Amino acid sequence: MKRTCMLSLLGIAGFLTSVSAQVRTEFLLEKGWKFTREDNPESVQPAFDDSQWQSVTVPHDWAIYGPFSSQNDKQHVAISQDGQKEAMEHAGRTGGLPFVGVGWYRTTLDIPQFTSGKKAFILFDGAMSHAQVYINGKKVGYWPYGYNSFWFDITPYIQAGQSNTLAVRLENMPESSRWYPGAGLYRNVHVVVTEDAYIPIWGTYITTPQVNDKFARVRVETKVNLPEQADPSQYRIKTILCKPDGSRLPEKMQPLTDIVYNKGVMVQEFIVEDPELWSPEHPTLYTAVSNIYKGEDQLKDEYTTRFGIRSIEIIPNKGFFLNGQRTVFKGVCNHHDLGPLGAAVNDAAIRRQIRMLKDMGCNAIRTSHNMPAPELVRACDEMGIMLMAESFDEWDKAKCANGYHTVFDEWAEKDLTNLIHHYRNNPSVVMWCIGNEVPTQWDEGGCKTARFLQDICHREDPTRPVTQGMDAPDAVVNNNFAAVMDVPGFNYRPFRYQTNYAKLPQQVILGSETASTVSSRGVYKFPVERKAMAVYDDHQSSSYDVEHCSWSNLPEDDFIQHEDLPYCMGEFVWTGFDYLGEPTPYYTNWPSHSSLFGIIDLAGIPKDRYYLYRSHWNKDEKTLHILPHWNWEGREGEITPVFVYTNYPSAELFINGKSQGKRTKDLSVEIDSSYTEAAQKSFERQKRYRLMWMDTKYEPGTVKVVAYDENGKAVDEAEIHTAGKPHHIVLTADRNQLQADGKDLSFINVKIVDKDGNFCPNETRQIKFKVKGAGTFRAVANGNSVSLESFQEPQMKLFSGQLTAIVQSAEEAGTITFEASAPGVKSAKLTLKAE
Ligand code: GAL
Repeated sequence: MKRTCMLSLLGIAGFLTSVSAQVRTEFLLEKGWKFTREDNPESVQPAFDDSQWQSVTVPHDWAIYGPFSSQNDKQHVAISQDGQKEAMEHAGRTGGLPFVGVGWYRTTLDIPQFTSGKKAFILFDGAMSHAQVYINGKKVGYWPYGYNSFWFDITPYIQAGQSNTLAVRLENMPESSRWYPGAGLYRNVHVVVTEDAYIPIWGTYITTPQVNDKFARVRVETKVNLPEQADPSQYRIKTILCKPDGSRLPEKMQPLTDIVYNKGVMVQEFIVEDPELWSPEHPTLYTAVSNIYKGEDQLKDEYTTRFGIRSIEIIPNKGFFLNGQRTVFKGVCNHHDLGPLGAAVNDAAIRRQIRMLKDMGCNAIRTSHNMPAPELVRACDEMGIMLMAESFDEWDKAKCANGYHTVFDEWAEKDLTNLIHHYRNNPSVVMWCIGNEVPTQWDEGGCKTARFLQDICHREDPTRPVTQGMDAPDAVVNNNFAAVMDVPGFNYRPFRYQTNYAKLPQQVILGSETASTVSSRGVYKFPVERKAMAVYDDHQSSSYDVEHCSWSNLPEDDFIQHEDLPYCMGEFVWTGFDYLGEPTPYYTNWPSHSSLFGIIDLAGIPKDRYYLYRSHWNKDEKTLHILPHWNWEGREGEITPVFVYTNYPSAELFINGKSQGKRTKDLSVEIDSSYTEAAQKSFERQKRYRLMWMDTKYEPGTVKVVAYDENGKAVDEAEIHTAGKPHHIVLTADRNQLQADGKDLSFINVKIVDKDGNFCPNETRQIKFKVKGAGTFRAVANGNSVSLESFQEPQMKLFSGQLTAIVQSAEEAGTITFEASAPGVKSAKLTLKAE
């Protein structure tokens, strides 16, 4: 019989709930927490009566329940990065939600597996923020940075065979963030119990120093902690590698004799023949199972690490190479919040985001501006997305009065080390990013702090390049700040790429942050003109994708660089998804409280821009998308331009059967001549990537586009129609089959159409929801950055005709019925299954 790794795969260091092997137990603390916003120091005491506190399940974001208010974390500041000279009021900068202040969590820790002589650990994937952890009234530890994962050895604090009290105090300062950070135990909390000889948390480090088609050399470093006075030669390690199909490769068993000479670390090397290489297209994963034995056969620990076999390389003048192939980053920056779910981590929500991004052709995410959740990293490993894992938005100098600079000196090294130890086995992580637009970039000598941080990355993981996002292109070249980095990452100002390339030693340029184009889904402004920092009475931005910030640009201003300059490594667009906070350009204009930068809105509904990126990035699927919508009552006879986002080279447009002419992408447009004021005004660069009919006039009816291939043959067509009277609701779920685990989510798109099924793009009707059966209503969002409606009430107004309702499975299998109704239109029902 073929020996497989299936058993071990179950206990993967991925911390599945309640997985217990004989020698190592790992479980999550999800249910049974008590929570309060009252700050009472007595809360640490085991005898304290918390019965009046709220019962919650972790992950939990206390602030996402609202209510919204302009008074929540109102900041009176000048955002110097945005060019503001004088302080002004920023009401929605951090999302207008009540995250500032103190919150306490308490739960009972029952750990029957913990007996005398064993070890116990607590691991927080992230706690927002300034976590103080107590067990049985005693302080276990403190970790200030809310985004990082951290763990403590709790062996001395817990009593075997008894209930123990875990209490966590969190505190978020005002003016500590530039976006919505979330609040509370918003990521998972794990308990790990081991024997006295064990592999510590994040104790393995697997690298692949040589990779080619025929073989890969795999190096496994395993840290082993033995009891004091133990003789290492009495212990052995057996490491088994498992292939993606679960079959085993030859194992290695060796005594631990030498670890005393190597800081407790055992090094083993393997040759894997015909390796299956990890890439975004083929995200294949191997597993290493490490067993520690005492004497001949007393199993002491079993620890599982997932890894990938892949090579990464930066080649001067050529860019980034994955497995020997030039790979251009088609990336997005994302903040960690999940829209209406807030910061509370959820696997289904993350995987949905990744599915959408991959369909767009995206191959990379930058976890701006902080450590990602393990769920995101795991999903990227499995689904095939490269990650640029970031640590800080601030170093030693302030962007926000109470930001990370207040703890930088004491914590930066510890924070960076934890990030790297946590994720250095994950093949999706291809680069570390040590900072974002840190004010230190302006300083003479700031390069020393950059080098200090980069050196930590090199020390803890010499296999990955290190970058940071810099937005002062001249200063950082003049003061060596950019020159010390493995990869110079520039935020915006692509017009400086060529000059900086000429001066810098690395001979590559990364677009670490690009575009910051702003748009509101389904909202179009006339006349269609390129504008910086345009503001309107409705607090929205135009979905013609022609508006940006004063420091930023349109998507094509980046496309052209990364296509035409061989040393450009690709880009990370600001942002993939809209996020809570930073409603730029509506800084002072409450109720604006969420971003307009997203390619996809806060409800997870694609904006038009999604199809522009898809047409450029996704070469495998055809894109043929028409904008704007065609319901312009009152604009009859007025100029209403039509854009088509497509990867076909040309197309002809018809309005009510009348040809409006044929357009072909103008591939002769080049970088240098296409950024003058006049060229920007006449959309020169856009002509290379979009098809535009600038003079079309609105008349109700049908807009049809016929696409032609390279040979001029008509090969595809699409059309949109002026919708008639709103008639019925249409529901579409992203997934109809859920896991009955009490956590899985279905995202249901809700829209209104006319009697013939034509989408009604101007509908703002309020929709009400009912969920029955084996699930509950979880949240709702419509992507409108000025809506102050609650994310948790089962009702919301449509925004530009659509919204997204989220249904959560229960723990029992069964059917879930979701019903949506609104006055004046036929309601709709949808059935989901939970198994
Ligand atoms: C950048 C910054 C981002 C975000 C963005 C908006 O300067 O790195 O965090 O603020 O601007 O355009």
